[in-house]
Amino acid sequence: MTDLTHAYALPGHLYHGAEAHGFDAERILRRSWQLLGLVSQVRDSGDHLVADIGGVPVLVVRDEHGVLRGFENICRHRAGPLATCAGRGAKALRCRYHGWTYTLAGQLRAATEMAGTPDFKMEDIHLNPIQVAVVRGLVFAAIEPDMSIDELLTGTEKKLGSRDFSHYEFERRQSFPVACNWKLYVENYLEGYHVPHVHPALNALLDYRSYVTEAEHWHSLQWSPMESAASGNFYGEGDALYYCIWPNTMLNILPNRLQTNRVIATGPDTCVVDFDYYYPVDDRPEERQRRDTDQQFSEVVQAEDAEICAQVQRALASGRYQPGRINPKRENAVFHYHELIRRIYGPERL
Ligand code: FES
Ligand SMILES: [Fe+2]
Repeated sequence: MTDLTHAYALPGHLYHGAEAHGFDAERILRRSWQLLGLVSQVRDSGDHLVADIGGVPVLVVRDEHGVLRGFENICRHRAGPLATCAGRGAKALRCRYHGWTYTLAGQLRAATEMAGTPDFKMEDIHLNPIQVAVVRGLVFAAIEPDMSIDELLTGTEKKLGSRDFSHYEFERRQSFPVACNWKLYVENYLEGYHVPHVHPALNALLDYRSYVTEAEHWHSLQWSPMESAASGNFYGEGDALYYCIWPNTMLNILPNRLQTNRVIATGPDTCVVDFDYYYPVDDRPEERQRRDTDQQFSEVVQAEDAEICAQVQRALASGRYQPGRINPKRENAVFHYHELIRRIYGPERL
């Protein structure tokens, strides 16, 4: 185990190339829990959410009996998609390719023009199930997780207390392609050290030094009471809590606002970051105004992060970077994240 005060960053080859990409998909992403959305998005029968888990398309759907089920979003005929986006009230899961149709419980119930095919038994054909968990109204899914959802979230109860997001509604998603490895984007999120240099407007608004960064188990938390953080002070009194949950989920929590980020690895040098916005129901015009301002501001900050991450990516991929010292005061969460990665990669791959 390295210690924080003497730590170095990870080597560049972990952020570049087909080998690292394949390893991450296989050993990290497919063995982790992925946030798909909020339970209010799958309230009724046939409501569904989709996601990508380490390159595997998956879906979560509420069945006719009210059970929330997860499946690989891969038709058992020739791999067509059952759902291409989130939706409401589907009566069945119908493949977009040749129309085979599965019940909401994943059982094949109709196969187009297959009647009379010898030894073809519909009852033996079922979508591959995956695990689903709902915690505080957040819907997670996993293919083959290394840990239980409770283990993953150990310690988050300290600041979250009894907070629950079940009554929040989805408002919108913004997806940003970023020209960097997915881990690099996460690490950039984990420190405020770059804020004065990369985000001038954000820096004028908050004192990043007042943020406390804690890292333990499978998450880290950057937080500050709103009055000192200001944080745009769009949402009134209360804490601003910024969680990063292993390996690629962020929960950005302000009073009456949840913004989640999910970093999807689309290639060795590229990722897509989904920003999802959720709020309790509130139709007042001043609330609308606040939300728009918040979202526009977030878009500016995101563009600045995307730009710096793309530049760092090029340097990491150049083969010329030699790992530098970590700032123990400002990069403890980066260090913690690196330690989790080191543990999984093992000394032989570092
Ligand atoms: S791939 Fe699904 S029906 Fe052909
Ligand atoms: Fe940033």
